[in-house]
Amino acid sequence: MSLLQILVTSLTLLIIHQTTIASSTLDLTQGFTTISLDNSNFVIQKPYNIPINQRYIFSNGVHQFWIYPTDKPFTNETNTQPRTEIRISGHDYTCGIWQFEGYGYIPSGTSGVCIMQVFGGSPYATTTQLRIYNGSLTYYESPILSQNIYDRWFKVNAIHDVGANNVKVYIDDVLTYDGVGHGANTHYFKFGVYLQNDPSSCAESRWKDIKVLRK
Ligand SMILES: *[C@@H]1O[C@H](CO)[C@@H](O)[C@H](O)[C@H]1NC(C)=O
Ligand SMILES: *[C@@H]1O[C@H](CO)[C@@H](O)[C@H](O)[C@H]1NC(C)=O
Repeated sequence: MSLLQILVTSLTLLIIHQTTIASSTLDLTQGFTTISLDNSNFVIQKPYNIPINQRYIFSNGVHQFWIYPTDKPFTNETNTQPRTEIRISGHDYTCGIWQFEGYGYIPSGTSGVCIMQVFGGSPYATTTQLRIYNGSLTYYESPILSQNIYDRWFKVNAIHDVGANNVKVYIDDVLTYDGVGHGANTHYFKFGVYLQNDPSSCAESRWKDIKVLRK
């Protein structure tokens, strides 16, 4: 090998090495402070007329939620669609940069359902909804953020900058949505299943390793 070849080879190896380091240490939570959460911060909303254990199980660190189109709303005083969701409580925010991190899992067949929300907006009710339609993960009804979402764990990082009115959604550490928010209001995160248009006969989502962070 000539000196030049050796140099090129070394440089190439160096670049590969650096790239590997960069991708393996990507940490979307860097610079954020993790908020400590206990059970009181996880408020479950489920059809008002049945016990929690008929629509929700927490086992081995996994929250499992399911819902049927014929289910009742979460209170008897609303006509909203059926849901089984956890509402993060005790950390509502009106300013700052907030982040939700969690791992989601959607069994195949689930469709027409919202699985995660950045709640609150103005004049909107929500700033972000992640939904499932026909095997894809979508931002509201569009755009598609990730195809072939069924039957695998995927990582979700949703970063909401209230002051800048901006939302970024990362799926498996890849930026899939970067857009304008829906205005300032009182905000909080939700995850689970909240039926939308064209729902499947049963809708299910599972979640684990939920974190809320702020900057
Ligand atoms: C909802 O349920 C509560 C408690 O059972 C009851 O007091 C109230 O009247 C109900 N409201 C409606 C609209 O049915
Ligand atoms: C999902 O698939 C059904 C059946 O093919 C179709 O009618 C519906 O429009 C699709 N929904 C979306 C949001 O793509």
